[in-house]
Amino acid sequence: MRLYLIGYMGSGKSTVGRKIARFAHLRFIDTDSEVEKLEGASVADVITYQGEEYFRQVERRVLEKSAEEDNVVVSTGGGLPVWGDNMERLSQLGASVYLRRTAENIISRLSPYGREKRPKFRGLNDEQLLSFMKSHMAEREPIYSKADLVIDCDTMSDSQIIDLIIKEIKNLK
Ligand code: S3P
Repeated sequence: MRLYLIGYMGSGKSTVGRKIARFAHLRFIDTDSEVEKLEGASVADVITYQGEEYFRQVERRVLEKSAEEDNVVVSTGGGLPVWGDNMERLSQLGASVYLRRTAENIISRLSPYGREKRPKFRGLNDEQLLSFMKSHMAEREPIYSKADLVIDCDTMSDSQIIDLIIKEIKNLK
């Protein structure tokens, strides 16, 4: 079983992914952390100094490498599915779950660090951040919603989200 968690920045993919992996005895991979290991630099620095195109190429290599694992939960960076044919590739490799949240909900959960570490959020005041997120999420929604399972997470606790995924896992490919 390969399970890919997708969704916008700050939707909780890494937290939920790590917990599912522990519960279901699966390995856990976080694509941002894998990029950081390969590059020896933070995602923010890779994007800032090497450019987004370069970052996306490394991210794709990490996606390909996840195919070497059979029992794994993969938390993907928010932009991974929308780059090139990554969504198709990810769907070939395993089951996908989209953790959907509204922009307002993500902002209410975002720590100052969570805001600062994402280059796309930097330098935006609250109002600008909300309007950027709304239009950016709307652009990505058609791709994210191709996932095998879509979960509206705004009113759910982490444990409810995890229970739902565990319950549905057997019905996913
Ligand atoms: C990005 C999301 C980030 C990270 C990078 C770009 C995006 O991952 O890969 O900053 O374009 O949505 P998270 O979704 O884990 O924040």
